[in-house]
Amino acid sequence: MKFTTLLTTALTALPILADSSFPWERLNKNDSLLIIVDLQEGLYNIARDYDPTLFKQNMLAHSALGLAFPTLPVILTTSASTGPNGPLPQEILDMYPTAPVIARQGEVNAWDSPEFRAAVKATGKKQIILAGIVTDVCTAFLARSLRAEGYSVWANQEASGTVTKEIRDLANDQMMRAGVNVVSLFSIVCDLMRDWRSSPGAKEILPWLDTYMPVYGMLARGHRAAVENGTLIPGEADLPL
Ligand SMILES: *[C@@H]1O[C@H](CO)[C@@H](O)[C@H](O)[C@H]1NC(C)=O
Ligand SMILES: *[C@@H]1O[C@H](CO)[C@@H](O)[C@H](O)[C@H]1NC(C)=O
Repeated sequence: MKFTTLLTTALTALPILADSSFPWERLNKNDSLLIIVDLQEGLYNIARDYDPTLFKQNMLAHSALGLAFPTLPVILTTSASTGPNGPLPQEILDMYPTAPVIARQGEVNAWDSPEFRAAVKATGKKQIILAGIVTDVCTAFLARSLRAEGYSVWANQEASGTVTKEIRDLANDQMMRAGVNVVSLFSIVCDLMRDWRSSPGAKEILPWLDTYMPVYGMLARGHRAAVENGTLIPGEADLPL
């Protein structure tokens, strides 16, 4: 092989090598644990990289993943919740009246809490889905500690908030370099569901999407309206297929 060909081949292979150091892994709803990390009322105020109305919706959507997929055990945790960080919103607590709520008195990284570690280990799950405020501390510290302990981690980007977009990008880069899957809410839902014909599948997930991801809920409502009672307006019939 000519040197230039060799060089081109090597350079082309480089990104592939970097990618394959963390092989693609699919979420399995039977092996996943949902963690709600410090989505506290005080901390909510320092999540400024999303519109605050959207971000509250994203916090609830992340928390409600365990309602959509009942095979997922759920652990809630808070950081110094009697101080400025504040409590978890009642809407989130009400979703899981019997789930463990690990109130950390001081540990910033949830993994430093023996009680939290014991709760995670007790589930026996190896795939961890999490989101937290703030992205660069609560989410990134725990996500990387879990990676170091051999867990597979999916960080829900949309329900992790921090002070600026620049800080978020930095935190996401750090997590990705540690092999954390930094992903969207919809990617988690579809990865867990896998097939619209599954259970949970379209029947269970559509109402959930209608509440927590209205862009899909409205799409389905519009489609239903068109199928049940739709007529074409002038011009529509002539559009290309
Ligand atoms: C989860 O477990 C159920 C019941 O054992 C099984 O039917 C299903 O195929 C499993 N799902 C996955 C993704 O492995
Ligand atoms: C169907 O559409 C007509 C107008 O085109 C409307 O008057 C009627 O209420 C609709 N029916 C339903 C069930 O949505």
